[in-house]
Amino acid sequence: MRVVRLSSEIDFDGWRTAARRLRAEGVAPDAVLWTVEADLFEAAPVETPSPAAGAFTVPPAFVDLARSVVLHRSGERFSLLYRLLWRLEREPRLIENPADPDMARARDMQKAVARAIHKMHAFVRFRLVETEPETYAAWFEPAHRVTEAAAPFFARRFTNMTWTILTPDACVAWDGQTLKVSEGADPADAPSEDAQEELWRTYYASIFNPARLNERMMRQEMPKRYWRNLPEARLIPELVETAQARAAAMVAATPSPPPDRVLKAALRHARDGAYNGDLPTSLDEVAAAAQVCRRCALWRDATQAVPGQGAAHAPLMFVGEQPGDQEDLAGLPFVGPAGQVFEAALKEAGVPRDRTFVTNAVKHFKHEPRGKRRIHKTPDRGEVTACRWWLDAERRLVRPRVIVALGATAALAVTGKAAPVGESRGRPLQLPDQGGGQAQLVVTYHPSFLLRLPDADARERARAEFVGDLRLAGELAKLID
Ligand code: URA
Repeated sequence: MRVVRLSSEIDFDGWRTAARRLRAEGVAPDAVLWTVEADLFEAAPVETPSPAAGAFTVPPAFVDLARSVVLHRSGERFSLLYRLLWRLEREPRLIENPADPDMARARDMQKAVARAIHKMHAFVRFRLVETEPETYAAWFEPAHRVTEAAAPFFARRFTNMTWTILTPDACVAWDGQTLKVSEGADPADAPSEDAQEELWRTYYASIFNPARLNERMMRQEMPKRYWRNLPEARLIPELVETAQARAAAMVAATPSPPPDRVLKAALRHARDGAYNGDLPTSLDEVAAAAQVCRRCALWRDATQAVPGQGAAHAPLMFVGEQPGDQEDLAGLPFVGPAGQVFEAALKEAGVPRDRTFVTNAVKHFKHEPRGKRRIHKTPDRGEVTACRWWLDAERRLVRPRVIVALGATAALAVTGKAAPVGESRGRPLQLPDQGGGQAQLVVTYHPSFLLRLPDADARERARAEFVGDLRLAGELAKLID
């Protein structure tokens, strides 16, 4: 019996090196024991992976498969992979045979690992644990050992933050520049929902001491002498001053993940498009299932889906275009700059936001990177159509009497037809009943449109019209007299 000891539970390189050698030496799969434990199999001579003389090639798809399967928690993963490698020499088309029991098992494991990565991307929630320097931490228990594989996504999404993700398998920390991996944290110490911040601080201090991006570095990147000529520079002092408050508000506003029961049902239904015949039965379910939506490709670059939020049976529903940068991070609609314009206009119109339901035509943030910033991109018609399924689900469940389309994308999503806002805004239109009851539509400007108008007079005129449209919608919905 050959006993191979790998250096960690996810030691793909070690497995590959050892597997190559064993195969070159003609060692059959059932004559090999794979272990990670230091003192198991003391009686047998234990070897650590060492390279084989001759090289041989396997299909790249097998290498991809093996890289994922190694992250699965199953104790059989290394031996299964070696058995597949061994058989590949004799059955070169094995990898294309989904009915083969070894291949089927490996593919299932690969899928489970991909799901675990996706769930980690969608459900990690950072909390502010230090204000000086501003530092975030998150606790997460992934279904498989995917922490390192999932981490680069967070480094891309939260480039400007200093954060640590703690899991029982490994902790990963980002200081604005590099990702560092350290030993897993003890699940027995996992903080409960109302865990003290102090506990996080202790964790954090014991793991990582970051040199973080701060105001000094921000000033270095954009020296003060250039501020005068940059339109956005006047925002800097305020941004610096309010950064902590905004971060705290963002973290406080972050919705808690849906209950496990709802999440499981949603994942089960959403998988493989099972929702085609089987509709979500609650807004919680819509919110959870949207996290695994694959109806278009926008999920790939977004932090999470941002479902609608508000009163479950609100008489008035607002539909925006898509989440922006801040909404994407917070998981809530209209919390960024456009949200502030919207909120102020609602107040002026006398419409209570907490008695309305606010959502978007498209649930994932479409953007492109520019340096460290993520620049909004308008969703195309195909994406709006794909995402209409979720909007329709929300409409069926909320059954609003009045829907306000904020901008042209929202109007397209609600009616299925493209029309300039100028042609339809400011008056009630009748919508056909699509299962959510009779509803009227009011089309108006998107709040960002008001932010973009360069001329002060035109901006003021449009803002007054916008407030008037919201008031009309509030009256139609009988939220104001
Ligand atoms: N713009 C939108 O259309 N929706 C949001 O949630 C934020 C900005």
